Amino acid sequence: MKNKVIVITGANGNVGSYFAEQYLNAGEKLILCVHKSVSRLKPLQQKFSNSFAVCKADISDLDALKDGLTEIITTRKWIPRALIHTVTMRSSDFLPLIETDPLRWKRIIDVNLNGTYNILKVLLPYFRKEQYGKIVLFGSNVTRIGLSRGSAYAASKAALANLCRSVAIEEAGNNIYLNTISPGPIKIDDSHFSESYREFRRNYYKEQIKEIPLKRHASFKDIFGICKFLLSEENSYITGEEFYVTGGRL
Ligand SMILES: NC(=O)c1ccc[n+]([C@@H]2O[C@H](COP(=O)([O-])OP(=O)(O)OC[C@H]3O[C@@H](n4cnc5c(N)ncnc54)[C@H](OP(=O)(O)O)[C@@H]3O)[C@@H](O)[C@H]2O)c1
Repeated sequence: MKNKVIVITGANGNVGSYFAEQYLNAGEKLILCVHKSVSRLKPLQQKFSNSFAVCKADISDLDALKDGLTEIITTRKWIPRALIHTVTMRSSDFLPLIETDPLRWKRIIDVNLNGTYNILKVLLPYFRKEQYGKIVLFGSNVTRIGLSRGSAYAASKAALANLCRSVAIEEAGNNIYLNTISPGPIKIDDSHFSESYREFRRNYYKEQIKEIPLKRHASFKDIFGICKFLLSEENSYITGEEFYVTGGRL
């Protein structure tokens, strides 16, 4: 698999950067899609500089995303074999729908849902050409429990999971598998959030844990295990599914 690569979006995010490190340690080559910040990739730069390339683009901008990815893929002669799509924009205004700013609401849909369309639109032709592709999209358990004061985020994630089901049917004949991982709360570094949003989020997480039979939030490792399986050769018969990784919460 010398020139076969995994594309990770949101690669500077909590989950994305953890996954990038795991796959680099396992000897994989990666294309890491980032937006504004690359701070979490700095430690990887020294150790793995030849094993990954960085594509910086706003995922809601189809042309910028396509140009950035095409350049890396053609100049390096890399062949995408998998995609892990973790990009997300949260409803960090934490307002009920009735009070939301319509532009902010639309922006979340644009990044979370239309951004998913964009990354699939750019990469599916490569997967089709090879007649091979394993894709994992990131949803959230809010697709089944809803999210008070986060309707745009919750709606975008539910749409993403259904987009996954639909495209999985379309691409099954091309040996391209798509699945969604929908985690409950994950233990993350929340220092980059505004103080007020951090407080809202911490309270939400504290409440949520009462509903989780395993009585803890998910670790990155908990989430990585299922992603690794879905991207592996062991996954020969699962596509179009949404996997809830929620510590037993239904
Ligand atoms: N963390 C949780 O508790 C939790 C729970 C359930 C589901 N999830 C899902 O799991 C996935 C990973 O979560 P996470 O905690 O790792 O998220 P995160 O740390 O907030 O990372 C999200 C990434 O998306 C990037 N991004 C945002 N807007 C973008 C845009 N317009 N174009 C390109 N990239 C953009 C951000 O880059 P910049 O910062 O540079 O903008 C950031 O690196 C997400 O899909 C999330 O919805 C997470």
